[in-house]
Amino acid sequence: MNQPVMEGLRLNVPAYVKHQRLIAWVAEVAALTQARDVYWCDGSEAEYDRLCAQLVAAGTFKKLNPELRPNSYLACSDPSDVARVEDRTFICSAKKEDAGPTNNWMAPAEMRELLQTGDKALFKGAMKGRTLYVVPFSMGPIGSPIAHIGVELSDSPYVAVNMRTMTRMGRAVLDVLGEDGVFVPCVHTVAAPLEAGQADVKWPCNQTKYIVHFPETREIWSYGSGYGGNALLGKKCFALRIASTMGRDQGWLAEHMLILGVTSPEGKKYHFAAAFPSACGKTNFSMLIPPAAFEGWKVTTIGDDIAWIKPAADGRLYAINPEAGYFGVAPGTNTLTNFNCMASLNKNVIFTNVALTDDGDVWWEGMTDTPPAHLIDWQGKDWTPAIAKETGAKAAHPNARFTVSAINNPALDAEWDNPAGVPIDAFIFGGRRSTTVPLVTEARDWVEGVYMAATMGSETTAAAAGQQGVVRRDPFAMLPFMGYNMADYFQHWLDMGKKLQTLCASSGAKLPKIYCVNWFRKGADGKFVWPGYGENMRVLKWMLDRVEGTGQGEEHAFGVTPRYQDINWKGLDFSQEQFNITTHIDKAAWATEMKLHEELFQQLAFHLPAELPATKASIEARLKAE
Ligand code: OXD
Ligand code: MN
Repeated sequence: MNQPVMEGLRLNVPAYVKHQRLIAWVAEVAALTQARDVYWCDGSEAEYDRLCAQLVAAGTFKKLNPELRPNSYLACSDPSDVARVEDRTFICSAKKEDAGPTNNWMAPAEMRELLQTGDKALFKGAMKGRTLYVVPFSMGPIGSPIAHIGVELSDSPYVAVNMRTMTRMGRAVLDVLGEDGVFVPCVHTVAAPLEAGQADVKWPCNQTKYIVHFPETREIWSYGSGYGGNALLGKKCFALRIASTMGRDQGWLAEHMLILGVTSPEGKKYHFAAAFPSACGKTNFSMLIPPAAFEGWKVTTIGDDIAWIKPAADGRLYAINPEAGYFGVAPGTNTLTNFNCMASLNKNVIFTNVALTDDGDVWWEGMTDTPPAHLIDWQGKDWTPAIAKETGAKAAHPNARFTVSAINNPALDAEWDNPAGVPIDAFIFGGRRSTTVPLVTEARDWVEGVYMAATMGSETTAAAAGQQGVVRRDPFAMLPFMGYNMADYFQHWLDMGKKLQTLCASSGAKLPKIYCVNWFRKGADGKFVWPGYGENMRVLKWMLDRVEGTGQGEEHAFGVTPRYQDINWKGLDFSQEQFNITTHIDKAAWATEMKLHEELFQQLAFHLPAELPATKASIEARLKAE
């Protein structure tokens, strides 16, 4: 089966590949991009090791000291390619209103001309001199009825090895795909063609970038970046943007949520799904270790970033983590903030844009109190604490990442790979807000919860290119990841609530509770008031008490918040006064906040569900009355 597609190029289709449509598509993309050759990834360990060795030889990877960090590598990207590029991300639905006002849109035909069909189409010849890797992957356990398959064609071996960790990747996926299975086609190029004899660079990429989604045909085309969510197309592009449209059409939810399990000393297990914007501590929260005073309580990780959630006939929502690994933010991670994560990073890791120590290990800001005396920073320059003091240079890029398999996590939940998923007891929505938003608020009902999630604001972080620390509305922490009109998505959540209510009425099950949290409120001294990390268990426990119907709280304009005495403070010195700072409702700040909700609603006026302005009106009335 070695059909030539153009002179000198063979498709190298392995005998086990039976899917003619897939083969024809690979041939088409290889011809368009003029790839030098084609390699089909089988997902084996031997292949991973071989590709990593190739990346070492090319200078993209540096092998870390095997005594300190066995089987691990460091990649440092081009300084212009360090984060997701939201302003270069497009939803090319047939109708502009289906992409909605929060997405960049271009007509599909126009985008196809730009990328694929025009005289100067960007993908034409984009892979010249490079190998096209065929990367078959499953989001979710292979063969599970909840899982979906994608095939990424990429000219980046860095992408191929990262995809092996982040997804179930390789031959087993093609076996499930069989002769005619459905897959989401994902095309990725670093867009750095090589002419004959031209030397490659360590991190090929292009200043021009396009991250493009065609929701109707469920296709992804990514051009010019080799970094993270721009290039590992199973993650944000498929599991959120494309999957959200699949969820809308098929009656399920694709969410930017971690999933965690909490087991009580008596062995009762609960599950939370929690949405936070990028780089707001989802990985830390999903691996939380309860404080010593919570003896016998256990938190386990099902997922740290994405949840696919489906309603079942019993009226409950069941969630799976479609990913198989973690692509987490390294800076700030240490044995105190996330012990389980640090333990996960002991071996078999790909680090990107962290600093290199003199003994061949890695370091990043916040890993240890005292930095090493000398490092090579993520840009390959000498770095010392003195240089940092003088120039402000960071050893690691603030969006530096690790890629590691979920099975490295000591807190991995036994059910993490269960194709049926886990039942969700409560949703948590959290933004990064130094002011205004209280530590925790429970919504009185589903609609109020949807309102809270829809109007969530958060200060921007280094996970996306652009200005940082600016408050922006980030509905459901999905602003950069929505594959369709945000207002229709709100409606989808409201419809889901109605559907669950009907199912619960006959099964006796309860709808998940909905909470809004803010771990990031600052005091007058500019420091975080709430200690966060493992201490978040105290808030989780209050939520569980509420789920069980035993927890107390105080009702206010937006919902229910615990009083000081409703939280278990054993083992933590946290005064009533400090607690008051974290929960205080400042009327003036809320008046401003409500104006920002109004601005969002005006932006999303087309198709905005009437329940949301109605909820706003009742909150405002309560605020006035208080
Ligand atoms: C991520 C992100 O990489 O949200 O998870 O940016
Ligand atoms: Mn994320």
